[in-house]
Amino acid sequence: MMAIDGATIQRFESAVNPLLERGASVAEIEAAAASSVAAIAPADRALLVQALGEALHPTRFFNERIIKPDARFQATYALLAYSFDEAERDPYDRFLTMLANTASCANDHPIIMMDRYAQIPGVQRYDNDGVLRHFSYNPAATTELTVSLVSGNYMSLMRASSLRESIGAIGHLVTRLHFRRGQGHGSRMLQAFEDEVAAEARRRGETLKLVALEAEPDSVGFWYKQGYRWVKDTTYAQPPLDFDPVTGVPIHPEVPETLMVKLIGAPEATSIDTTLIKDTVKMMYENWCIEKAAEFGPIVTNVARDYVFGKVYRAFLDSLPNADTVALVPPPSLA
Ligand SMILES: CC(C)(COP(=O)(O)OP(=O)(O)OC[C@H]1O[C@@H](n2cnc3c(N)ncnc32)[C@H](O)[C@@H]1OP(=O)(O)O)[C@@H](O)C(=O)NCCC(=O)NCCS
Repeated sequence: MMAIDGATIQRFESAVNPLLERGASVAEIEAAAASSVAAIAPADRALLVQALGEALHPTRFFNERIIKPDARFQATYALLAYSFDEAERDPYDRFLTMLANTASCANDHPIIMMDRYAQIPGVQRYDNDGVLRHFSYNPAATTELTVSLVSGNYMSLMRASSLRESIGAIGHLVTRLHFRRGQGHGSRMLQAFEDEVAAEARRRGETLKLVALEAEPDSVGFWYKQGYRWVKDTTYAQPPLDFDPVTGVPIHPEVPETLMVKLIGAPEATSIDTTLIKDTVKMMYENWCIEKAAEFGPIVTNVARDYVFGKVYRAFLDSLPNADTVALVPPPSLA
């Protein structure tokens, strides 16, 4: 079979690209595409139309764990930076440090960062929301687009409780806007994260107790569907993630969020051991927050520790009931 001639490809691209650039409807784009090649051989027309369809609505996806600061990590961090405010995400350099420490057995809280990619034939350009903005037909090339990412840590609880137990703590999960709601990317990323922390626990001979996360108001419905429950009546905040390197004063204040957990091996549980949830939050604060401050020396560490454990963690402890267990319930906005 002969390749489609260059002039035909150019005519097809010239018909669709101005429409893609100005955000025309899919129906309008598809109609313009079809009429630009109405007179060519049906087999060639089908190839072009099919390639455009695949670029508009990708169907091939794969997941991959990020383990080094390569080009994939750059794309991942760009999506993080687009999706979350500075106060809600670690600085770029912090991720580099966490990735560099991932392989070390001595590291008791390795980062687990996973991406879900769409694999699209041709050289395509998408905007930050994942909308196709420029189409190029080229069967010899492939475009990979990050559609969803999850980032968090496996955390041993040894330093908190001396038991060989651990948790998974999710820092971020995001799907590009165009790929959200019911296409299954966020839930697949979450499953990949849960599988990876379970594998890490097996490698280390530890018992994975739960996966925890800080939910933002708009996402609690998603987490609830995935089996996560609110630790009832808790006052929880994501601690400051960055500190003044001289004074130790937090650069951004803590961010109030909803603490949600899923117990491993007991997804239907209606309560959690109070000690376990105290240790969980303690290790999240130590690993996500105090460790960052420690890079700036003992004075900064002490100021940060006073703030995080004296204020933020104290408010959390004060919100727990005076009992051995805490109820796990739907978050308040869904109750
Ligand atoms: C939360 C988020 C990651 C979900 O990703 P997604 O790719 O849309 O999720 P899925 O398509 O796998 O959705 C799985 C199910 O949850 C539902 N769902 C998705 N987002 C939802 C939401 N915000 N509220 C209620 N239900 C939601 C879907 O409809 C789907 O339901 P179904 O199983 O009945 O079909 C995505 O909305 C997002 O990126 N939000 C902005 C960032 C954010 O808030 N992240 C979480 C805090 S770190």
